[in-house]
Amino acid sequence: MPSTPPDVRCRIEINGLRKDFLANGREVVAVDDASFRIDDGEFVALLGPSGCGKSTILNMVATLIAPTGGTIKVDGAPVSFGKPVRHVGYVFQKDTLFPWRTVEDNIGYSLELAGVPIGERRTRVAEAIHQAGLDGFARFYPASLSGGMRQRVSLMRTLISNPEILLMDEPFGALDTHTKLDMHSVLLGLWERQRQTVLFVTHDLGEALTLADRIILLSARPGRVKQDFRVDFPRPRDAVALRETRQYAELFSKVWHSLGEEFARSRST
Ligand SMILES: Nc1ncnc2c1ncn2[C@@H]1O[C@H](COP(=O)(O)OP(=O)(O)OP(=O)(O)O)[C@@H](O)[C@H]1O
Ligand SMILES: [Mg+2]
Repeated sequence: MPSTPPDVRCRIEINGLRKDFLANGREVVAVDDASFRIDDGEFVALLGPSGCGKSTILNMVATLIAPTGGTIKVDGAPVSFGKPVRHVGYVFQKDTLFPWRTVEDNIGYSLELAGVPIGERRTRVAEAIHQAGLDGFARFYPASLSGGMRQRVSLMRTLISNPEILLMDEPFGALDTHTKLDMHSVLLGLWERQRQTVLFVTHDLGEALTLADRIILLSARPGRVKQDFRVDFPRPRDAVALRETRQYAELFSKVWHSLGEEFARSRST
């Protein structure tokens, strides 16, 4: 394993992480002895079969649930349950937009909470709407948007507060293939400019290969790190053209085999 150069800043460090749940009188070990680190500006995909503990890990990093064991450090400091770290943003699996607020009021919500003056808020919201390709939709309510558009609003609602660390839980999981590819292009475009440190949960290998610098493959439940793959396709990446390349096909096949073993194990447990 290559040693990390000393000037690389570690943003997220997870050591021996464990989570047990008690459900219907039965104990479920969701995550067991998971350890990995993510350096500044890295885009890391957390990949694994359904139920292997991906969301649980993300929720523990976000301090939404407490670990049963192990440690999580963000920027060198241990995180505590219920105390979210200020510069960490979270994009949820389901779009959690407020149906009674327009696109602009959804996107500006966190700025409103932070007491950002109306003038600055309007400018930042207008810029975010433009970046997400939503010009003309500022006054629309979520119910009149497509699924892809709603996910863009969710994304911008998180990005507008400029989080340095971004947690994303299958944000495009419910979208059809083409809309998903479109969202990959939007996300890559935004990320290339800001280079946030990203932990992106998915069970879609194509999505992981398109977006990430590294793929951390989790085992079937209880989730622990099975393999750590480097995805060194050149950037900027074209989400559509990349899929036609030989390098993509080779790495896809390598990870697919290992992921397939875990899908099979998850079905038999
Ligand atoms: N609040 C909870 N109470 C009891 N069990 C839970 C709870 N949350 C998760 N689990 C269990 O922990 C395991 C891991 O769940 P988790 O949601 O982390 O999986 P996942 O990898 O995100 O799956 P998916 O890809 O389907 O979203 C599952 O067996 C699930 O039933
Ligand atoms: Mg999940």
